[in-house]
Amino acid sequence: MANLTGQERARYVQNMFTRIARRYDLMNRLMTGGQDVRWRKQVIKLAQLTSGARLLDLGSGTGDLANEALRQQPNAHIVAADFTLEMMRVGQERFGQLNWSATDALKLPFADKTFDAVVSGFLMRNVIDVNQALREQFRVLEPGGRIVILDTTRPKQNLLSPFIWVHMHVLIPTLGGMISGVRDAYTYLPDSTEGFLTAENLAARMAAAGFKNINFKRFMFGTIAIHHGEKES
Ligand SMILES: C[S@@+](CC[C@H](N)C(=O)[O-])C[C@H]1O[C@@H](n2cnc3c(N)ncnc32)[C@H](O)[C@@H]1O
Repeated sequence: MANLTGQERARYVQNMFTRIARRYDLMNRLMTGGQDVRWRKQVIKLAQLTSGARLLDLGSGTGDLANEALRQQPNAHIVAADFTLEMMRVGQERFGQLNWSATDALKLPFADKTFDAVVSGFLMRNVIDVNQALREQFRVLEPGGRIVILDTTRPKQNLLSPFIWVHMHVLIPTLGGMISGVRDAYTYLPDSTEGFLTAENLAARMAAAGFKNINFKRFMFGTIAIHHGEKES
């Protein structure tokens, strides 16, 4: 993984999600003890959807965030977009009523100012160019539109660090291997988390892309963060 070039890494990510698509949701629930459901609710609340709002769930995978958005705001117009067809295929079986779009987060097939909010769950640490992904989200947002990002984040060193290390490097790959049969996908998770930006750095990248009023909150012993911000009106 570490030696892969940008495009090779994108293909690796796509191939990995294709292989785990059928077990992806179950593994999420197990790894987080069901907490991801709570974080998703929080993400959609932070998107502040009004009736008729247009929402992009980017890197939607099987569509959990998009579906939560529909639950909170049934009159929203929602697009669930991902570059792994198999993830969306599983999502289509679960949530047929969503609009699905085969989309690369680095080159969005949407006009400027198409959406009132863009949300993503566990996408940003996977993209090969974070700045470009943020610029694209900024471009497709209306002025005043909101961005909300849920992802794993590098935890700060503290007394719990050895336990977090065991959870991420031993328990998750073992469980992931047993449930999905694809152990490397679940060694990729801690590796990509540790290789990703700190929460402070991601906030700084959001600011560099033009977002204002940026804030973030950590969850699950500092291993998860939700960032949010807006495009100035
Ligand atoms: C960890 S899954 C997250 C799925 C879902 N958002 C969730 O909250 O569970 C990451 C998803 O991002 C997608 N992804 C990664 N890079 C992408 C890119 N450049 N463009 C679009 N989707 C991408 C993957 O295909 C995968 O479905």
